[in-house]
Amino acid sequence: MLVARILVGVTGGIAAYKACELVRLLVKGGHDVVPLVTEGADRFVRRQTFFALSRREPTEDLYAHLTRADLFVIAPLTANTLAKLAHGIADNLVTEAALAHRGPLVVAPAMNPRMWASQATQANVATLRARGVELVGPDEGELAEGEWGVGRMSEPEEIQAACEGLLAHREQLAGRRFLISAGGTREPLDDVRFVGNRSSGRMGVALAEEALRRGADVTLVASNLSVPAPLGVDVVQAPTAAALEEAVLARADDADVIVMAAAVADYRPAEALAGKRAKDGAAWTIELEPTGDVLRTLGERDADALLVGFAAEAGEAAIERARRKLTDKNANLIVFNDVSRSDIGFEAEENEVVLIGRESERRIDKAPKRAIAAAIVDEVARLLEERDGRGR
Ligand code: CTP
Repeated sequence: MLVARILVGVTGGIAAYKACELVRLLVKGGHDVVPLVTEGADRFVRRQTFFALSRREPTEDLYAHLTRADLFVIAPLTANTLAKLAHGIADNLVTEAALAHRGPLVVAPAMNPRMWASQATQANVATLRARGVELVGPDEGELAEGEWGVGRMSEPEEIQAACEGLLAHREQLAGRRFLISAGGTREPLDDVRFVGNRSSGRMGVALAEEALRRGADVTLVASNLSVPAPLGVDVVQAPTAAALEEAVLARADDADVIVMAAAVADYRPAEALAGKRAKDGAAWTIELEPTGDVLRTLGERDADALLVGFAAEAGEAAIERARRKLTDKNANLIVFNDVSRSDIGFEAEENEVVLIGRESERRIDKAPKRAIAAAIVDEVARLLEERDGRGR
């Protein structure tokens, strides 16, 4: 097991005493633990205890460690800090560090059952989940004040297991180069109008984040993203199908894995007018011409890179068409999603896909795009290992 730097945030609740055991377990696992204890938590368990357990001097300046952590775990997480995290409030060391942290975040909520069940808390929990935060618990049981219900912090062993699970894949893709296209292209009609599509880029960005998290070098070819590109990836802007084609093909030889998650226009206006076309009352007929199919061109090359395509299909026999795409475009993996459903796919936070490989298929149940990205990257990692095993 590789040693990781882990920030342990402790917020004010009686369960803070259980955070001592969590720190002890993580230190025992060989990790470099940095405790961040709020004033509220300090009233339950003194800061010095956490410093002693993590073998640190209480006088140490922690700021230097905050930007270089592999994982951040907050246990216990009070309802108050949970709300602050959901809204990006940074008013103490724990919430400031959470806002600045770029890696995985694990939280173990602990609060009164009625506070946990409240609409406000549940809305905040949904916000954190959608952002990819991993929640452990809370469990059902008797709380310190004698009440029974859901709100007890999970046991330290369970929180530790969640942390180790997230850290396990850290180096899995070290040295692998990923080229990922994301977003939707916009094909100009004139200088202000375009023909576009509804892709937000969330899925491609989630894939870039996941590959990065596992140690890969990631280049993101970005077409009009409506979400920010992750820090730590090389971003190449490619607003149109032509720009995307050029950007991807120019970098394809250097890639071990190419993921075409972008929704590339199949057609573009044959002529883009200069300036802004004025209205004249008459109909405006636009001629569309086909664009180059980047995935197909990549599949026709005699190259080593593993090719992953997406198939956004709707209606009857959609999956059949996706299966055909795998062979037609000579890809190694096609990620199929059904665009006739409004609860998944375009612009949605969640997705549900089938991973279609040459030898097997796997359905991934509806989940946040980050979890879907993890499943796709799992499959890519498996295919890379399989290929290494075969000595190419
Ligand atoms: N794609 C591409 N270049 C294009 C169009 C699509 O590389 N000009 C890629 C997409 O990034 C995606 C895959 O091809 O990975 C499938 O795209 P999709 O739009 O689902 O299907 P099409 O290729 O357009 O096929 P069809 O229109 O026949 O369904």
